[in-house]
Amino acid sequence: MTTETRDTSLVAAFPPLWLRDNCSCFECRDSSGHQKLFQLLDLPEDVNVLEIVERDDEIEITFLPDHHRSVFSSEWLRSQTAAHVLEGRTEVSKQLWRANDIDLTALTTMWTEYCVDDLERLRVLRGVERLGLALIEGTPAAPDTVLDIVATFGFVRETNYGELFDVRIEPDPRNLAFTGLAITPHTDNPYRDPVPTMQLLHCLVNSVEGGESGLVDGFLAASLLRDEDPRSFDVLTTTSVDFAWSDSYSSLRARRPLIEVDEHGHVRAVRFNNRSMQALHLEYDHVVKFYAAYRRFAAILARPELEFAFRLGPGDCVIFDNTRLMHSRTAFEESSNGSRHLQGCYADLDGLASTVEILERSTNGAR
Ligand code: OGA
Ligand code: ZN
Ligand code: ZN
Repeated sequence: MTTETRDTSLVAAFPPLWLRDNCSCFECRDSSGHQKLFQLLDLPEDVNVLEIVERDDEIEITFLPDHHRSVFSSEWLRSQTAAHVLEGRTEVSKQLWRANDIDLTALTTMWTEYCVDDLERLRVLRGVERLGLALIEGTPAAPDTVLDIVATFGFVRETNYGELFDVRIEPDPRNLAFTGLAITPHTDNPYRDPVPTMQLLHCLVNSVEGGESGLVDGFLAASLLRDEDPRSFDVLTTTSVDFAWSDSYSSLRARRPLIEVDEHGHVRAVRFNNRSMQALHLEYDHVVKFYAAYRRFAAILARPELEFAFRLGPGDCVIFDNTRLMHSRTAFEESSNGSRHLQGCYADLDGLASTVEILERSTNGAR
């Protein structure tokens, strides 16, 4: 049965040009990749709706001035209303946590099971999206394994350090990571543009005393700062700071705020690394305000109740969101009866999100 209405409330939610631009007919879209075949300037500027015909779960629209006809599924149109479409990267889509909220069993997987069971892999990767981390146990404690691990969900981000980097005590360290000193909570490589959005740390050996790992939810810390001291939050979201790194082969630099928010003010990324932050070049009063805000944020990050502490043993790999979590390690000393060697690499969240979607399709959207 066909009913005719001039204006359904669903269609009225969208400007005519939006509807016309999203037509999915064979003239407008390529049949294989579903890519748009026309340019914005091909559309008349004065597009309007001439007629709306609703049938079952479809809505057919005829446009003016060219009488182009588009058919939309009502379900698709409904799914496009702004309230439904979250980007997935901001605090709104995340489960923020303190140390006590962490359920170690829930975020841990065994390598053998993870590799063969798509549902298990999906569970673990969704955990990375929601909580920002996962732990894989029982991987081979062998060099380069971290590259096999990253390949299970995405692509390694090669940098000037190579595909992977070794974290162990070096005789002439160019980075504090390559000493036995403690490293306080930080995000890696804020001097890169774009920053690597994920990091993996894979343990080959950890027989030292100390050398324990820590992770802090930077989105939670940022939200605490916003609640406790909104002015400081505003200073950190609106002040760009320089981060830099250089050695004889590379010279890297990026200018970004410590807390990045989207257009709604939702936290989307944090950067925190006192080792690579550069001198500020701002007005005197702005510098004073920045330091006060920076200190408030640092003090929140240092609260013991925020830090999830754990120990990486041989064959363990921690995977985390480098735009959200800060990682740290306690000091250690090597001796004749103890050493420590991790291998790390970078990757990106878009590759992980893609793997999650493909796994959802192949497992019929398992929840
Ligand atoms: C690093 C780092 C932590 C560790 O290499 O970026 O923070 O556990 N290492 O050694
Ligand atoms: Zn069309
Ligand atoms: Zn680091």
